[in-house]
Amino acid sequence: MTWTAWRQQAQDFVDASISRLMRDEVFDFFAGHVDPLWTRRRILVEVTAMHAVGGDVLSLRLRSHHRLTPGPAGRHIELCAVIDGVRVCRSYTPLFIGEHELEVGIKKISHGRFSSWIHSQLHVGDLLEIGQIYGQAALSALTIEQTPALIAAGSGMTLAMAMLYDFAERRRMQPVRLLQYARSADDLVYLEELAVLQQRLPHLQVFFALTQKPDSSTPLHGHFDATHWQALDLPADSPVLVCGPAGLVDAVQEVLHDLGHRGEMHVEAYHRDLHMAPDGAAVTVRVKDRAVAMTTQQLLLESLEDAGLQPAYGCRQGICMSCTCRKLQGRVQNAIDGSISEEGEEDIRLCISRPLTDIDLSL
Ligand code: FES
Repeated sequence: MTWTAWRQQAQDFVDASISRLMRDEVFDFFAGHVDPLWTRRRILVEVTAMHAVGGDVLSLRLRSHHRLTPGPAGRHIELCAVIDGVRVCRSYTPLFIGEHELEVGIKKISHGRFSSWIHSQLHVGDLLEIGQIYGQAALSALTIEQTPALIAAGSGMTLAMAMLYDFAERRRMQPVRLLQYARSADDLVYLEELAVLQQRLPHLQVFFALTQKPDSSTPLHGHFDATHWQALDLPADSPVLVCGPAGLVDAVQEVLHDLGHRGEMHVEAYHRDLHMAPDGAAVTVRVKDRAVAMTTQQLLLESLEDAGLQPAYGCRQGICMSCTCRKLQGRVQNAIDGSISEEGEEDIRLCISRPLTDIDLSL
């Protein structure tokens, strides 16, 4: 038995027996001297490896003392760090989750506080905190007789890679097509990892499309259109996963709709333009015994956090429902689709809601 496995067993024994006799903070104080990851109040992970995978994406390998929940691709996890004294969290799609290990890919977003800090300040050996794992398996109804198309760009490639690692682990003979979009050949990501996956998945076919700088090595160029779909040579009922910027996702949905596609489609869009309220009128949001001043152009989650409140949240993109709370009265606008709520009681998602009037919330 290795030292790591022996230590894990010993820690599991302590966890299951005497640790329950102590308060969490007391346990964390003493256990932290043995292993900084051995905590009960928070789940800490250690960065054990990090490497660039192209296109401003950094891959992090993380080790956890706690037992994680391995499972299908498509779920999300929250990563948190203390940056300039403030705890900042963001959600990512892990490439894989093992019992005590996971890997995430983090694309550097210009002006992105968390991703910029990860790219410039994080080192091997540092600790991060992880939150809940949430979300559903992508393409859960897929069978081995079907050939799914995975269409992805930028940070959306982490979900496509998670699917491919899942196939390599659980169904090596799965036929699958991957179509990766990037502005130029230099912006393509995970090329080395894809070459390794092609050895493990004999029926994986990889296509690249360059949108701005065509290259003779990639026959597809420009944005997704009917010719790109035809290049994949798939029947109209093939399952499709599309993950990337909203422009790519919208194009795939429109083109496939026009072509009569009738297979399952799993969609994840990033950087969708938010609807903006026409004015920036001042409003008051009453929550608990606080009155928070905002404008109609601010999102509720961000403004409540700025006011020192700590509402629950996960993806911050309107996907996971973690930030759902009860609005008691007042109107809000859904910043994703622009729809406007009724006056009365209803559940709203704080991360994508703007107040259009004074509102009362039950947090
Ligand atoms: S944080 Fe996920 S829906 Fe709001």
